[in-house]
Parts: sequence; structure tokens; C-alpha cells
Amino acid sequence: QTLEMEVSQIMKGGFDHYMQKEIHEQPESIYQTMRGRVRMEPQVQEGSLDPYKQQRIKLGGLAEHLETIRSGRRIVFVGCGTSYHASLASRQTVEELVNLPVACELASDLLDRRCPIFRDDTCVFVSQSGETADTLAALEYAKSRGALCVGVTNTVGSAIARSTHCGVHINAGCEIGVASTKAYTSQIAAITMMALALSEDSISKREPRDAVIEGLAHLPDKIRQALALDGEMRELAAKLKGEQSLLVFGRGYNYATALEAALKVKEVALMHSEGILAGEMKHGPLALVDESMPILVVATRDGVHKKMVSVIEQLLARGATKHLLVVCNEGDEEVAGLCASHGCSLIRVPQVVDCLAPVVNIVPLQLLAYHLTVLRGFNVDQPRNLAKSVTVL
Ligand code: G6P
Repeated sequence: QTLEMEVSQIMKGGFDHYMQKEIHEQPESIYQTMRGRVRMEPQVQEGSLDPYKQQRIKLGGLAEHLETIRSGRRIVFVGCGTSYHASLASRQTVEELVNLPVACELASDLLDRRCPIFRDDTCVFVSQSGETADTLAALEYAKSRGALCVGVTNTVGSAIARSTHCGVHINAGCEIGVASTKAYTSQIAAITMMALALSEDSISKREPRDAVIEGLAHLPDKIRQALALDGEMRELAAKLKGEQSLLVFGRGYNYATALEAALKVKEVALMHSEGILAGEMKHGPLALVDESMPILVVATRDGVHKKMVSVIEQLLARGATKHLLVVCNEGDEEVAGLCASHGCSLIRVPQVVDCLAPVVNIVPLQLLAYHLTVLRGFNVDQPRNLAKSVTVL
């Protein structure tokens, strides 16, 4: 018994919980996802007809299938829980770079609907464990329809890794906490690299691709900066710990951030929380807003920033100031001014290229969920009624 306890203490490497350790590991785990796969610096190739034409993304497991995917009809991502959120977070990146229709499906729902899947579809199964029963069943279903099946998993030799035609290992390292953290950020990085690999031949995408690759290069550092918010997140958690509910608003790339932050809060801190697409605010959620409702808004600078500023204004106009927390970028004086005049809390994260913001923005929210759980006295690594891998249908 004591030996077991000591081993687990050593495995936690100085942290109190696995979830905490895994959150703090993210600069390294995301680096491992990209290691040997991304050529960060373009090298002009002298003497070549097109000196800029070169391979910058190397995904060995996909190389032979890239052409099939590009010439397919659409890409369908399939997953459960956090893995589904990772596909939502990267959907727009794939749409923009690859120019194919992209669907994101919850595995159980795809099966319930017996969703039409065709021979010229590519289905991408996203799963940390590679063993989730619903995702595996959806894989067998898609295979029987003749689709090309791709795995994005963290577990070499897992059922999903074995049953798919090809795939990408995210290499995030073993994840023990039931609530997925580092696998989420690595899944987004892996799907982003997939989109980059699929668009390698496109001249018109050269500029956006370069910006994304540059963004990937800086990601470990930006995550490190976001992790420095740990103390602040603990303080915010202390203010929120007695609350019953937390609404989380986001849109665009950060709709997924809102869903994932809410999932973390409900699954470990056992507090009701809902991720809401800010564009739907007026179609129901506003009815819940009053002076006392705790609300978190993700409003970092990107293509929908203006709309998010207007969301904050509307929430303030409904009197939501007691617990309005806003995730914004360092140096965003517009949001800072708006919040300061109403006494709301700011969570300032570093800015990165739009499509990678979900990776950085989720980090302080993972920390918030972690501290809320500890302060509320619940089991961080094994929340009641939940399992790390759900291997039964
Ligand atoms: C369980 C875990 C979640 C995870 C989901 C999907 O619900 O508690 O953290 O996101 O399964 O798991 P997978 O291994 O397929 O990513």
C-alpha cells in the first residue's frame, strides 16, 4: 500500500495531481507532437524550378494517402468528449486550408442516425485512448461503407490505431487524469498539421500556411506564458467556488474552447457549466443572465473579436458584472477598458495565429477547473461516475 502510494507520488513528479501535472506538461507535450514533423524554417532551394516548393510537414503515417484525401468528397471527424471538441476546434483550419467540406460528428450520434458515409469520404477518428467503444463502433461502420479511415490517437497499438487504414499518433505521452488536458492541445496541433500536409501543393494557401507553421513554432512558449496565470486562476477559482453554475461563451475557433472549458468544469469541479455559441446568445441563453450568474467569455483577437466585444457589452447591459470573467489578449485595451469600468476580471493570454488560439486559450481554463475542483474538495483525477476510457457501448 505505502509502496503504491510512493510510486504514484513519484509519477506525479512533484505535483499534487495527475491533471495538474498534465496541464503543466503542455509546452513539452505539444513540442513532442510536432517533433520531426514540422520544418520550422523554409529553406529556399537554389536551382529548383520553384524555390519555395518544398515539403514542410512530414506525417509518415499519412504520406501515401494525402492524394486520396484531397480528391475525396469531404472529411468527417468522429470522436467523443474532449476528442470531439478537438475536432471542432480545428474544423475551420481544415476547411480553410484544404477546401473540402468538413463535418464533426459525435460517435454515438453518427451511429444513432446511421449517418450516410460514402466510399469517397475520409473519416478521421480522434481518440486519446484509441479504445472508446462508440468511436470504435463508428469506425467499423465507416469502414463497412468503404470510407478511408484515419486515426488520430495517443496510444500506439490501440484498437483504433490498429483498425484504421492510416493515421497520426499525437505523441503527447501517457495521460492519466480522467479529464483530458494535454491530449486535447496535442490533438488540435496534430489535426492542424494534417491540414497543412493536405494543402502543401496549393500556391494560394502558401501565405496562410506559413503563418500557421510559424504559429506552431511559437506554441510551446505561448503555452508556457499562459501557464504563468496559475496563481491568478487559483484566485478566480476561490471567488467562484461557492457558485452553482458557470456559462461559457465563445464563437469561431473558440466555440470549441467554450465547450471544452465547460466540460472541464462540470466533469472535475462537479459544477453545472454550459459552453454556448455566442452567436446563439439571443436565442435562449440570455434569459439566464442576471446580476448573479457567473459568466466566462472568450474574446481573444481574431476574425470574430468585434462580435465578441458586442457580446460583452450586451451581457454588461443585462447587469452581468458580479462574476464576468473575460479571456482576452495582452494589450487589448478595448476589452480591458470595457471590463475595468464594470469591475470584471480579465484573463490575459498571449496572442497567436487565430487557428491556434484554442490551444493557448484553454490552458488558463484548465487551470481554473483544476483549482475549482481542489477548492471544492472533489477528486481531481477520478471524478465520480466517470472513467478514463469508456470501453462499453
Ligand atoms: C471519456 C474521458 C474523456 C474523453 C472521452 C473520449 O469520457 O473521460 O476525457 O475525452 O472519454 O475518450 P478518447 O480516449 O476516445 O479520447
